[in-house]
Amino acid sequence: MNPNLPRLQPYPFEKLAKLKQATTPDTSKAHIALSIGEPKHAPPGFVVETLAKHLNAVSHYAATKGLPELRQAIQSWATQRFKLDQLDPETEILPVNGTREALFAFAQTVISPSERAKVFMPNPFYQIYEGASLLAGAEPVFLNCTEDQQFLPDYAQISESEWEDCQLLYLCTPGNPTGSVYSIEQLQALIRLADKHKFIIASDECYSELYFDEEAPPPGLLEACAAMGRHDFARCVVFHSLSKRSNLPGLRSGFVAGDATLISDFLKYRTYHGCAMPLHTQHASIAAWSDEKHVAENRAAYREKFDRVLDILSPVLEVSRPDAGFYLWPKLPIDDQVFARDLFEREHVTVLPGTFLARDTESGNPGAGRIRMALVAELNECIEAAERIVHFIRHAS
Ligand SMILES: Cc1ncc(COP(=O)(O)O)c(C=O)c1O
Repeated sequence: MNPNLPRLQPYPFEKLAKLKQATTPDTSKAHIALSIGEPKHAPPGFVVETLAKHLNAVSHYAATKGLPELRQAIQSWATQRFKLDQLDPETEILPVNGTREALFAFAQTVISPSERAKVFMPNPFYQIYEGASLLAGAEPVFLNCTEDQQFLPDYAQISESEWEDCQLLYLCTPGNPTGSVYSIEQLQALIRLADKHKFIIASDECYSELYFDEEAPPPGLLEACAAMGRHDFARCVVFHSLSKRSNLPGLRSGFVAGDATLISDFLKYRTYHGCAMPLHTQHASIAAWSDEKHVAENRAAYREKFDRVLDILSPVLEVSRPDAGFYLWPKLPIDDQVFARDLFEREHVTVLPGTFLARDTESGNPGAGRIRMALVAELNECIEAAERIVHFIRHAS
């Protein structure tokens, strides 16, 4: 048995299921789940049609490197979106089956296991970063993202010797669950640190297309590289997905792009791992990366939900619009697990307690006293959930 396997924590949803087990919910009200970050808007019809049209491609094996046409479509999208002068589809882009598996597999490729090997990550965080680090033979280091730091880690607190042990830094922009976005300058400061201390930056940007201001999309790590003339993207890789941008979480399609040496090593790992993207998925992905209209419509739907839900919740909860993404991360008047449990019991609404998304540290658990609400359901359901939350808070004894 892999000795690190027992160190993997139960997933937040397993903890949530346990918390809810002991309750008797008011089933006269229809259940509304704001807990899972799974988009519920309809997938684009033309992508589904393209998928169906290419189903016969199941008679062929796919190459791990992906079709040149897919890498080209990704190149066109990424260069335009992130203002890149160049991004070589031959050496700097790899299709992946969603960012989850890629974020995991990347650590297995780049970590040199040792007693001192460390992987830095935000806290709260997407739990894959932690499991990937442990199974790769490195120790996760949790960097608290608190309100006083605009929900981004305070990298200035990390000592020189701590940086020396860092092999890989995961960052998430826009963040899950906080929605915080790094500025170009903040990303460039990290790139300089990566050069100084020789670590790799894996930037999880899977929420990058869900933003509120059409004129101000969140910057990305490759954009930060390009803006400082670092056209080889040394030490930097980004992870993108069609799951949130295009409402295609079941398609399992994304890409990794950046430093050609890292991409080449990752391709080698993936060839043995056996995770080539099926050809029909690749064709559907080409269609999805080549269209922005459906993404803008998607953003408009989220914008309306945030406007309406924030209007309802603001009088009773400390809650604000995130920089981007589809989560709210409100501060609660009571313990987050008690809040989630009692809200489920009385109002039949499921939210995720913040402590399930974060680890305890010397300075506390940055998820304590907060919940994550995913505004993924249709508008009316989100409004109904918000109204029930207001009712719950006003009538909490
Ligand atoms: C921060 C973050 N990264 C990555 C993922 C994985 O998404 P996918 O594998 O669908 O691309 C998720 C999914 O919820 C996420 O929240």
